[in-house]
Amino acid sequence: MSKVKTLGQFIIEKQSDFPYAKGELSRLLRDIGIASKIVNREVTKAGLADILGDAGEINIQGENVKKLDVFANEQFIAALSVGGECCAIASEENEDIIVIDNEQSKNAKYVVAMDPLDGSSNIDVNVSVGTIFSIYRRLSLNGPGTLEDFMQHGTEQVAAGYVIYGSSCMMVYTTGKGVNGFTLDPSIGEFCLSHPNMQTPKMAKTYSINEGNYVHFPDGVKKYIKYCQEEDDATSRPYSSRYIGSGVADIHRNLITGGIYIYPTTAKSPKGKLRLLYECNPLAFIIEQAGGKATDGFKRIMEQDLKSLHQRTPLFLGSADMVDQACDYMKKYSMTEAAK
Ligand code: AHG
Ligand code: MN
Ligand code: MN
Repeated sequence: MSKVKTLGQFIIEKQSDFPYAKGELSRLLRDIGIASKIVNREVTKAGLADILGDAGEINIQGENVKKLDVFANEQFIAALSVGGECCAIASEENEDIIVIDNEQSKNAKYVVAMDPLDGSSNIDVNVSVGTIFSIYRRLSLNGPGTLEDFMQHGTEQVAAGYVIYGSSCMMVYTTGKGVNGFTLDPSIGEFCLSHPNMQTPKMAKTYSINEGNYVHFPDGVKKYIKYCQEEDDATSRPYSSRYIGSGVADIHRNLITGGIYIYPTTAKSPKGKLRLLYECNPLAFIIEQAGGKATDGFKRIMEQDLKSLHQRTPLFLGSADMVDQACDYMKKYSMTEAAK
């Protein structure tokens, strides 16, 4: 009989990787796991319950807020606020940080940045959505967390992960010692280790990009896409194009089978669409830990300076050799573009 290892058991086992750990990070991950199970419960009955559609608000990004966005945001904030390990939260759905100022959290060491529901335009059509989270050690010494606690490089993350609410619900996370994936077994209500030590192929045959924006892409991206589409037996081209439009789902697929995900600058999003703090940095941490790479086309994502909470960046993320090649195109053709 194969022995099941639950997320809780795995976290406790791995605590010994960090000699001075007192279990706070473990408890934080546990709290995130609990909130994500509640969100999964609502996602899986999205067609039955009164939670589909818009909440009737526009968020600070100017996008329609879905009811499930609001629900997920509330669940994660609630779980992190009572857990006692987190002193502030930054969320895609809140313009400012959420300061946790209660008795349990007065000695909390961590701040958490999150996209509570990623790919939310896909909820109404039964396509996978996700949650992304990123954990930093606070910089301030004590008391409630501050905005400055979030203004760190992605390289300072102590843990990051995502939950994908897909045909099964999975949590994938890293604490900087590899990437592990856990599948929710609904019969016992536990995340169980199903994908130990995940590694992404160095080279693959899938590219993921919203090609509807093609005319507005930088020349380097246009040329790279043409390269992906050319026929060449030696390099197994043309590659396949796969784009769900749920970042977590696209990146999860590419993490497992290999591939590159690109969200470049476009006319509508001149600085890129995705957010550095709670989308790109955590996904970059995971992909690097799995042997892949993440850049903005030129520079490593996790070394970018964060100047504001909702800052955007272009993203080139995935199999190392594919990211290198796409970045070579960016370097080569950005020169000619700049000269135009
Ligand atoms: P969110 O639902 O949190 O706003 O994120 C949506 C993101 C990401 O998940 C996805 O890859 C991308 O937006 C899709 O954008 P396009 O529809 O412009 O391709
Ligand atoms: Mn998102
Ligand atoms: Mn979102």
